[in-house]
Amino acid sequence: MKTKLTHPVFSIVSACAEEMNVKAFVIGGWVRDLLLERPCKDIDIVAIGSGIELAERVAKKLGGQYNVNTFKNFGTAQIVYEDYDIEFVGARKESYRAESRNPSVENGTLEDDQNRRDFTINALAISLNAGSYGELLDPFNGLKDMEAKIIRTPLNPDITYSDDPLRMMRAIRFATQLNYTIDPASIESISKNKERIKIISKERITTELNKIILAKQPSIGFKLLFDTGLLHFIFPEMVALHGVEVRNGKSHKDNFYHTLEVLDNICRTTDDLWLRWAAILHDIAKPPTKRFEPEHGWTFHGHEDKGSRMVPKIFADLKLPLNEKMKYVQKLVLLHLRPIVLAKSEVSDSAVRRLLFEAGDDIDDLMKLCEADITSKNEYKVQKYLKNFELVRQKLKDIEEKDKVRNWQPPISGEDIMKAFSIPAGREVGILKNAIREAILDGVIQNDFNEAFGFMIKEAEKLGLKIKE
Ligand code: CTP
Repeated sequence: MKTKLTHPVFSIVSACAEEMNVKAFVIGGWVRDLLLERPCKDIDIVAIGSGIELAERVAKKLGGQYNVNTFKNFGTAQIVYEDYDIEFVGARKESYRAESRNPSVENGTLEDDQNRRDFTINALAISLNAGSYGELLDPFNGLKDMEAKIIRTPLNPDITYSDDPLRMMRAIRFATQLNYTIDPASIESISKNKERIKIISKERITTELNKIILAKQPSIGFKLLFDTGLLHFIFPEMVALHGVEVRNGKSHKDNFYHTLEVLDNICRTTDDLWLRWAAILHDIAKPPTKRFEPEHGWTFHGHEDKGSRMVPKIFADLKLPLNEKMKYVQKLVLLHLRPIVLAKSEVSDSAVRRLLFEAGDDIDDLMKLCEADITSKNEYKVQKYLKNFELVRQKLKDIEEKDKVRNWQPPISGEDIMKAFSIPAGREVGILKNAIREAILDGVIQNDFNEAFGFMIKEAEKLGLKIKE
């Protein structure tokens, strides 16, 4: 272990601790990630004594150019060293939490501190003291749990989770990121204590949720969130997707598991959080639009439109940003059926042009979403759809090369219209602008100023407008 403590701060902490005659350890996430060979930029140092004093001494030894940010209420101090965030804290008896509601923490031993951490794999410590430098302190067999790939709490899970209910989300997040199983006693405790998640701020919950979504296979986390019942509290719209109804012998697919398949599929082609969110939300309005039509069976007419309109409330509830990221997700949800329609029928140039115009720069992401949306168990069908999508992609490319409608602006602007007819901004300008755009998208006229101008004059006549000589 000694040889792995290559970061220069460890020998400095060691020397300072020696001078102060206190014990110091590196603990928590950094140790876990060292053993898992994952990169980690956060180093947590725990001192059996004052963490703040140790930080101040370390900063001095580092050369004096590093500031110590102290949080006296919590007894913690932080040094930002190059791109590392180094935190110092005195060992505590109380629950270990940065945002603890109860700042009056009682001093404790290393064991007290390890006891109050969330999981055995996060309670590992390495000594930085002269006599035992590099020694691993693993009182709860965290190493063994790592080998067995298990998330387990050091104490009775009911205590660990009620100390900080966010840990229920963290357990599922780590299980998803690391592809670990959660100890059955923990699962039981989470299911029992799920309601306590209500006392945690939405922002912190969503931070964990986004980490689940950014994992390689987010379905692991969503299934755990659903099975433990946590999802009902944090994202009820997604729970509504679950289940199959049968009427007159006709059933529909379970949209919860379908959505998870689409999400896992898209994760193979993108790391982008928002495209992943679009996959989660693409069918979100299936429950509220579900109808049974005796002739056709189950239908979900308009779910893309309603789904897109549901996005702002879901984003607001989850404290996700209400900015261009949200608009992007709305757009993909709204358009998610369009390439499928193109793939199914004879594709007209105007339909392709229209899609290119509406999707703009997001067309490639939309195609990825649609390909991820093919989840048939019938391999023949999957291959057939994928082949059709190849044709759609080719068609999109051909039309874009020919007509340049991606990010396109019609050749005649509102200003041009106002000037040509000497009219102020108003209803007629909008009508003419629309008519020109539609005519070009439908292929009635070419994407060309002169053709559009001629077309505009004819359309304007219908409104009683004449060109000003
Ligand atoms: N911790 C805890 N309970 C929490 C949060 C954190 O016991 N609710 C402890 C764990 O020992 C954890 C350490 O504090 O390892 C550092 O927490 P944090 O930096 O939030 O997370 P990491 O475990 O480092 O993981 P990540 O960086 O992936 O968030």
